[in-house]
Amino acid sequence: MPSQKRSICAKVPLSKGEYYRKRFFNNNLINRNLMIKRIDGFLYIPLLTHPNGIDNKSVKLKKNNDDNIEYKNESFEIYPKRINNYKSLLSLPDGLNKDLPTSFDIIGSIAILKLSDSLLDYSNQIGKAILSVHKNLNSVAIDSGVKGDFRIRKIKIIAGEKNTETIHKEYGLRLILDLSKVYYSPRLGKEHYRVAKLVRSGEVVLDMFAGIGPFAIMISKYSRASQIYSIDINKHAMEYLIKNIDLNKVQNIFPLEGDARKLIHRIPLVDRVIMNLPFDSDKFIDLAFQKMNIHGIIHLHKIINVDHVKNYKTELKEKCGIYGFESKRIKTINLGSYSAKLNHYCFDMSVSKI
Ligand SMILES: C[S@@+](CC[C@H](N)C(=O)[O-])C[C@H]1O[C@@H](n2cnc3c(N)ncnc32)[C@H](O)[C@@H]1O
Repeated sequence: MPSQKRSICAKVPLSKGEYYRKRFFNNNLINRNLMIKRIDGFLYIPLLTHPNGIDNKSVKLKKNNDDNIEYKNESFEIYPKRINNYKSLLSLPDGLNKDLPTSFDIIGSIAILKLSDSLLDYSNQIGKAILSVHKNLNSVAIDSGVKGDFRIRKIKIIAGEKNTETIHKEYGLRLILDLSKVYYSPRLGKEHYRVAKLVRSGEVVLDMFAGIGPFAIMISKYSRASQIYSIDINKHAMEYLIKNIDLNKVQNIFPLEGDARKLIHRIPLVDRVIMNLPFDSDKFIDLAFQKMNIHGIIHLHKIINVDHVKNYKTELKEKCGIYGFESKRIKTINLGSYSAKLNHYCFDMSVSKI
């Protein structure tokens, strides 16, 4: 028998139940530890306090109480305590609990986590515990890192549906992707949005390493860019980019599949270049200058040690000079740590032709 507790409540006609529930809720009057109950055409809403003395206007109840609300004392079921930590559901051998991850990323309906070797034998148990706490998830996967030119995660589903395709929501966008075939990081959502909000009306943008298109689609949604050219060498990334263009009903994105170096001749002059290939972006910087208008912005991603940032910015300024541009201002945006010693940065370079 679930535990019960007595509480002051409002007895309201069922037909007006939702109306009054919202009114009490908006005024923080509902006791959320107790379950609302319905009996014989009435809803009993447990309250934190008797509304006597509370101005009816502020609760926005009808002044003349047409609906005959009664306030009375009743017994209510107490909501079972929520378990919000998957660790409490696990009984692992002594000493292993401390190795359990304290956080994990969620992409769509898939949780992705890193597990130390000591926990691999218990991965299914761990995955099931996460699924039972996070009811909105369908699967849990181990992430062994991003690899290769396509920057694809090596993942293995450890619990739930054996499906690696999912739809992730980011700042109002819906992005469909298959985690086992394309790169995507939910940690860059804020950066996709930041860049989109910088784009001015009429700009032509080049997303040189576009993946499934989060920068391009965000820009299309949140700016008045005229055209966005999106290149990626991974054919699956292109397939998902095209699906995402449809899913988000955007129109000014031009997807190009292949090596940026080979496709660059198909791109017109642009006002902004996004270069998110953090270990190798700078090897392609000549392409950005080749296609840059008289003035423009390059968002160059780089993973480096914090101690090298200053020197790296000096190197970038020198590179501008080599390609006939100058950069008066390079802004550094720290996008988070990549490893103990390395951080992921975006360098926003405002460049002008000399
Ligand atoms: C780190 S991901 C970035 C994806 C995307 N910008 C995002 O934020 O989700 C880098 C992408 O560059 C693509 N890539 C790698 N080398 C490339 C090249 N030479 N030309 C075009 N795309 C390339 C990879 O396939 C991968 O999708």
